[in-house]
Amino acid sequence: MTTSNPEVTADQPRIVKYTAYDAFIEKEGIPNITGFSVDDLRTVEVKPWERLDCLGTYINLDGAGKTNDSYVAEIPPGGKMAPEKHIFEKNILVLEGRGATLVGDDPGNRQSFEWKRGSVFSIPINVWHQHMNGSGTDPARFVAVTTAPLTMNLFHNEGFVFSNPYVFEDRIGGSKLFQGEGKMWTATTGRTNAWETNFVPDIETFATFTWKERGAGGSHVKFEMAEQTQTAHVSEFPVGTYKKAHRHGPGAHVIIISGTGYSLLWPSHGSPHEEGGMVRVDWRPGSMVVPPNGWFHQHFNGGSTPARYLAFRWGSQKYGFSLGVAMEGETDVSVKLGGGQIEYEDEEPAIHDMFVETISKAGAESQMAQFIPRLKG
Ligand SMILES: [Fe+2]
Repeated sequence: MTTSNPEVTADQPRIVKYTAYDAFIEKEGIPNITGFSVDDLRTVEVKPWERLDCLGTYINLDGAGKTNDSYVAEIPPGGKMAPEKHIFEKNILVLEGRGATLVGDDPGNRQSFEWKRGSVFSIPINVWHQHMNGSGTDPARFVAVTTAPLTMNLFHNEGFVFSNPYVFEDRIGGSKLFQGEGKMWTATTGRTNAWETNFVPDIETFATFTWKERGAGGSHVKFEMAEQTQTAHVSEFPVGTYKKAHRHGPGAHVIIISGTGYSLLWPSHGSPHEEGGMVRVDWRPGSMVVPPNGWFHQHFNGGSTPARYLAFRWGSQKYGFSLGVAMEGETDVSVKLGGGQIEYEDEEPAIHDMFVETISKAGAESQMAQFIPRLKG
């Protein structure tokens, strides 16, 4: 190795971009997908994953910023994964198939619950768990979003992360939380529309609530699971509509549940229509996109049916986190007022023009004239 600084040699500590997490997933021996988005989590290639006794691939998209990560795991027909525990958080969406998960290594206090496509659940940190395929003929596949990168880089010690004897009693919660029971945090408790549980049986049909601040008749519901610093939310928007652009910190894994459309993403210091300044990601059920740190992004229902997505992200309402990673509470306030959102009246007309062109190909009509001041009769 040569260097322009004679005082620095190859065997001295130096600033590295290669992290403890990078070293760990390299050892895992499965693919690692990078980039802006994944077209379809249901069909990404998975390879034998010896440690967990299944098939899998890591997914580290640019927008996660190495704060969190994701992976797809596939359990062969009749198979079960190796049990594990770890001190990072993990949220799971079942993509295909059905099965069950055992939680806890104490036989007297072990829980199990069944899941199927569309189920969402969270494994409390440092609790033993094991996933099993419930079918003898079809594979079962899920996507997990975890806080492994942040956790592993902070401690850079795999023994501490995977073989830690500490019991987080405060994270385990009641046994009924894995049976789909929970409680709704409402405006009267100071937290809006957040369902607190460890298990959501079917995210495809879970009821949502109007969120007028994000515009155009959209609705959403938040989930607080397993006493985590991560959170989740579902957002749905009607045919012919799109949401307002906004920006926030890294790590929001947006996974399309139903509908077709696209997202536009651009750096906050630029314009969506500068040369090379905008990225368009077309999506359908199974797609995943993670907006990069601080980039504006805007989601469009480009099809003829309602569109719904699930986001696994930082920003728990129960447990605050670092400013800049989770800017909860600011993302639906206009940038002109110090928030992170671009109001419809401030967006560039070409945004709507592109939308009209896209949606007309799907045989639907834009309903945005009622929301955008310059388009009102
Ligand atoms: Fe967002």
